[in-house]
Amino acid sequence: MTSSENKTARTLADLGVAQPGQVAPLFAEIHARFEAESANVHDESAWKNFRDHWLGRKSGVLTQITDNWLKPATAELKRAVGAALNELRAHVEAQIEARRTTIEAGAEDAAMSRERVDLSLPGVIRPIGSRHLLRQVFQDIEDIFVSIGFSVVEGPEIETPYYNFEALNIPEHHPVRDDMDTFYIELPPSPDGKGAPGQLLLRTHTSPMQIRTMEKRKPPVRVIVPGRVYRRDNPDATHSFAFHQVEGLAVDTDITFCDFTGTIEYFIQQFFGAGVKARFRPSYFPFTEPSVEFDVSCIFCGGSGTAASGATCGKCKGAGWIELFGAGMVDPAVYGFVGYDAKKVNGFAFGMGIDRLAMLKYGIDDLQVFFQNDARFLRQFS
Ligand code: PHE
Repeated sequence: MTSSENKTARTLADLGVAQPGQVAPLFAEIHARFEAESANVHDESAWKNFRDHWLGRKSGVLTQITDNWLKPATAELKRAVGAALNELRAHVEAQIEARRTTIEAGAEDAAMSRERVDLSLPGVIRPIGSRHLLRQVFQDIEDIFVSIGFSVVEGPEIETPYYNFEALNIPEHHPVRDDMDTFYIELPPSPDGKGAPGQLLLRTHTSPMQIRTMEKRKPPVRVIVPGRVYRRDNPDATHSFAFHQVEGLAVDTDITFCDFTGTIEYFIQQFFGAGVKARFRPSYFPFTEPSVEFDVSCIFCGGSGTAASGATCGKCKGAGWIELFGAGMVDPAVYGFVGYDAKKVNGFAFGMGIDRLAMLKYGIDDLQVFFQNDARFLRQFS
């Protein structure tokens, strides 16, 4: 303990202070001690000790002075001691408060520099994806048909044989079912054991949506149906067990074969460009009559059948034409399945393979790249 600390524990009489003139130097000593301590207080916990040491109610320095110096002081000294003590108290309180403010500000500065976010650091770069090429082709096709009054509908990939076949005029044992072999889904029996579960299959074409749409809407109907379809196929450069189609259906009371071919030709020119020619050949589908297949002039050899090198064009195999899609006037038998009056309505339907179309338009020679999700391939079309 310093000598001045000792002093506040003793009475004035003890200290030999009897004259008012002796009071001021005594308090000056205390002041000096306070200043010295104050200069050493730099953090919060030191500040708390400092505060308690000087202002503590029970044994703080000011309390000691009050108890040991002021209270027992002679009448002669009391005035001087009281005045000096008041002055000291005001100074100590103000100074301790000032220290607190300074320390808090310092702590804030320290915290600020510790927690500062460095905005100049490079961020995490997340590559932005883009639409798959097939999605883009779907979109292009939709845009063309929507611009001439078609609307877009979608349907289930898991279908009943009724919608996939029967209602499209393909009865059981019809030979075209061989070309449309698909995946059948075995359902668990219903929990109550009653009723055999209906058979379900993965649709082999988007044509079931012709039926579902006509069931719901009265003519005029003008829709296209983008979607994924499935067939039992081994994967190679031109085959996959899953691929994509866009179906089209237009039914009204006055649709002619010319409306049909004109619509298809318009689409082909919009999609491939004005230089590309279209042709159709007779074909067969159970749900169209007459049925046709549309070809486009080969976009690789310009329809000549000969590649730039002089060799036979590998894409159309010298034919000059590439088969694009099946179509036809809706077979009147189909109207019977949807409650339309076959005598009053007519229309056309078509179905195109999107993967094929995309391969043609973008010069892709392997269908499998669409399903491999190799970002290097996909990025070329983003
Ligand atoms: N659904 C037929 C197929 O996938 C294509 C088609 C659609 C033909 C509409 C005629 C009319 O092969």
